[in-house]
Amino acid sequence: MESILFKEFTLQNGTKIKNRFFKGAMSEALANVHLQPTESIYRLYETFAKGGTGIVVTGNVMIDSKALGEPRNVVVENEEILPFLEKWAERGTINNTQLWMQLNHPGKQAFKDVVNEAVAPSAIPFPGASSRFFHHPREITPTEIVDLIHRFGNSAKLAQKAGFTGVQIHGAHGYLISQFLSPSHNQRNDEWGRDIDGRMKFLIEVYREIRSQTGPLFPISVKLNSADFMKAGFSEEEAIYVAGQLEKEGVDLLEISGGSIANLATPGKDVKASTNVREAYFLDFAEKLRKTVDMPLSVTGGFRTKKGMESAVHSNATDFVGLARPLAVYPDLPNLIEENILQEIILTHKKLGIKSIDNQLPLDSMWYTQQLDRLGRGKQVRPNHPVWISFLQALLKNGKEVFQQRRAK
Ligand SMILES: Cc1cc2nc3c(=O)[nH]c(=O)nc-3n(C[C@H](O)[C@H](O)[C@H](O)COP(=O)(O)O)c2cc1C
Repeated sequence: MESILFKEFTLQNGTKIKNRFFKGAMSEALANVHLQPTESIYRLYETFAKGGTGIVVTGNVMIDSKALGEPRNVVVENEEILPFLEKWAERGTINNTQLWMQLNHPGKQAFKDVVNEAVAPSAIPFPGASSRFFHHPREITPTEIVDLIHRFGNSAKLAQKAGFTGVQIHGAHGYLISQFLSPSHNQRNDEWGRDIDGRMKFLIEVYREIRSQTGPLFPISVKLNSADFMKAGFSEEEAIYVAGQLEKEGVDLLEISGGSIANLATPGKDVKASTNVREAYFLDFAEKLRKTVDMPLSVTGGFRTKKGMESAVHSNATDFVGLARPLAVYPDLPNLIEENILQEIILTHKKLGIKSIDNQLPLDSMWYTQQLDRLGRGKQVRPNHPVWISFLQALLKNGKEVFQQRRAK
């Protein structure tokens, strides 16, 4: 009997997705100095497309060159980028693959060395140790908010024009949209804050602008935190409410994730054992969400076995299986599963065991970014590559700047 993972899915706008594999965004950090996509990016996405995934979401692409999240992000802000995007779209959509561009603005979660200043809903820095990586933010003005909404729409239109088959709005992981959603980061008293309706207005307006610039048939997804796991932060109840509003607005697919740089739940290290038992961390939340929200879902984070993936889709907790790190190591995982070559993958959390370094550096992300870089250069990934070698390589390449390259997912 054919696995449910290979059953076609039709979005409300009629777009047919060939299977239930959904590649979650992974920042490639492979742009050139002009922040344009490169051959490495085209090759990487051709590899994902050949690997059999139904929907491939790109790493976060920035909507404003003055607001990068980390070095070598791709930026989409004007037509000059079109020839580059066209090549990316052409290579990334082969094999009937949906290629969706993830659009993002970092807000205050932008590294000191990549931006001159940072804006945020309120002039509140990140709490705790992570604050030293970032500027103290300035409160964004209403005029700037409206400008950013237009920028999101414009970038989405350019992606569509170039041949991307959809976009995703990054509303998770502590970046600008999720800063707006959070009561601890957003303490505004105007229409962009105050209560949950005000805090989600930025996200809703970004969605509406993208919809109006791309038309009714273009798939638009949102990546949303189930919660940001901060004291007095964005809660599960609020996430369910926001998801309901996004459904009413006509969002085509919701990807569920969680955490932020101050509390990274995504790599699975800060997650309760009970959620780990269910393999994917946010399945329990997805089940709660399903009681009130009907839109197609992808749950991302923690899937490692064919059995776990199938049972999540069978149980109707999710329609799509979101995968990020597994695809950095096995970019052809869907094909390997289909051909019964692989049923389970084991990925250990990457750390050196030296607290002073492990606490300062996202070695896990660094290790996976190096695998993406290898794929981009047409090389094989190295599933057993020791993390300390990966650390030394990063140190040799970037010097002590490596300590500034911490990233939130
Ligand atoms: C190297 C790396 C880069 C990432 N970049 C992004 C990103 O640009 N945007 C995003 O929404 N998530 C990003 N993520 C988070 C993943 O999409 C995903 O939510 C997380 O890794 C959990 O899924 P997994 O257990 O399948 O890896 C990144 C993760 C990694 C490992």
